[in-house]
Amino acid sequence: MSYSEQAPRHVGIIMDGNGRWAERRSQPRVFGHRAGAKAVRSVTEEATRMGIGQLTLFAFSTENWKRPPEEVKALMLLFGRYLRGEEERLLNNGIRLRAVGRLHELPKDVHNELERVMTSTQNGSALTLCLAINYGGHTEIADACKKLAERATSGAIRAEDIDEQAIQDALYQPDMPPLDLVIRTGGEMRLSNFLLWQAAYAELYLTPTYWPDFDGEQLRVAIADFHARNRRFGGLNEPQRKVG
Ligand code: IPE
Ligand code: IPE
Ligand code: MG
Repeated sequence: MSYSEQAPRHVGIIMDGNGRWAERRSQPRVFGHRAGAKAVRSVTEEATRMGIGQLTLFAFSTENWKRPPEEVKALMLLFGRYLRGEEERLLNNGIRLRAVGRLHELPKDVHNELERVMTSTQNGSALTLCLAINYGGHTEIADACKKLAERATSGAIRAEDIDEQAIQDALYQPDMPPLDLVIRTGGEMRLSNFLLWQAAYAELYLTPTYWPDFDGEQLRVAIADFHARNRRFGGLNEPQRKVG
């Protein structure tokens, strides 16, 4: 089997630790965010080489608005700069950009830029790079519930039609595959509201490495670890099937 056949279909990364990385260097937090943007390039290139289908990066949570306004503003500027600066590289590498989150609540210029690059890269087939930006798992599920309720009220569906597939179809990106692996950098052991629905059976890989120090090589290590996992999805392994 070729490596790409074995590569996970969907990997998510909670890119955490930028602030602490900067603080360690006696630099302002935004210095860490800038360094974090460089790590995105290295990891994206490696993910493409490895044949991963979709890489979803947690860039900004619905809770991150609680941060000081200067930090939020710096992050938004960085997102805009990233989109403008990386577009050509994404196009050259056959990477399709997508995004999940309440995109319409983002500053207008960031939202416009995001829509523009999503359109220009829409035919990329080497990797789908999805940015979770102004994203929250609870918000996504609440938004899906609202859509389903509206469909039920208009008579398009009946309450008894609402099953797991109907919920999946009402999410921000209905064709998003379930997560195979969630990587979190920065040492915390929590999901922080990242893709709660899609992470139901994801393998978790937690590393103390701060995001700016994470790179393609470390992605390989994480994927190798993933391959050693035993995924049962609630069932049993082949040799354990004998009951009596
Ligand atoms: C992750 O790094 C980036 C965002 C949440 C936007 P942090 O900014 O959370 O860095 P730490 O966790 O404070 O070190
Ligand atoms: C999670 O990191 C969000 C992103 C990486 C975008 P946080 O730094 O916001 O998470 P908490 O606050 O430590 O849970
Ligand atoms: Mg953090």
